[in-house]
Amino acid sequence: MINLHDKVFIVSGSSSGIGRSIAELLLENSASVIGLDFSQSIITHPRFRHYTADIRDEQMLISIMDEAETLFGKIDGLANCAGIYSSSKPFFDLGYDEWNQVIQTNLTGTFLLSKVAARKMMKNKKGKIVNISCIRSRIFRPNMSEYAASKAGIVALTAAMALDLKDYNIQVNSVAPGFTYTGMTAAAFDVPEVREFSESIIPAGRIADPKEIANVALFLFSGLSNYINGETIFVDGGFKISK
Ligand SMILES: NC(=O)c1ccc[n+]([C@@H]2O[C@H](COP(=O)([O-])OP(=O)(O)OC[C@H]3O[C@@H](n4cnc5c(N)ncnc54)[C@H](O)[C@@H]3O)[C@@H](O)[C@H]2O)c1
Repeated sequence: MINLHDKVFIVSGSSSGIGRSIAELLLENSASVIGLDFSQSIITHPRFRHYTADIRDEQMLISIMDEAETLFGKIDGLANCAGIYSSSKPFFDLGYDEWNQVIQTNLTGTFLLSKVAARKMMKNKKGKIVNISCIRSRIFRPNMSEYAASKAGIVALTAAMALDLKDYNIQVNSVAPGFTYTGMTAAAFDVPEVREFSESIIPAGRIADPKEIANVALFLFSGLSNYINGETIFVDGGFKISK
């Protein structure tokens, strides 16, 4: 158990999958959590407050962070988990809007929320930001240019933000999950052939539970990780090293 009593975290994408697991694990470890998502949350915990929000809307994010700061007094950390997947076409058939939708959510949304939350954490000269990248930042397949670019962008953005925040004692790291069973992937992994094939190419022999990604985020939010900065940790059952 890591004691995060009195700590306040922002979690985007907190209504589903990895974001929800991170929010629940932070709550289990005594933190307060402010969740941001398009969709309603099923988390009903006295230390959880949900905001229905779009991470691409900077004005909305500013209002929410101002209100959160007033209510909770401070912000100690941010998990950028809201994201979308798209993998359907080669880049030469991809429309400008299709490209933009993924980049604006996965990359620009992470930039915007980090900017707004970092300004709060900078006041206290202390904080942690955890971004979510993906194995697809490094290991590619056809028809995923916009998604892969957004996730490789997260690796670079993580390192760049860490350096910009070096004088504020705010560490910025990212987690790159492998195949994980969430709202994003359930329809695919519920097809037995897809699941069997996916498991056959992962050295661990199984897809991840979102809690296994949340465990690493919890470590990155704790004091145990204070000397890790600008890093991306692959949590993929060995997928990357097998390619
Ligand atoms: N599931 C996987 O196998 C896997 C693997 C690697 C990386 N990831 C990444 O993990 C992150 C979380 O994905 P997940 O698998 O938990 O998906 P998910 O669909 O279960 O959850 C994503 C959540 O983000 C929210 N969201 C999306 N766009 C938003 C926006 N603009 N504003 C506010 N909320 C928004 C959705 O409503 C949803 O609740 C994503 O960035 C995804 O790319 C997932």
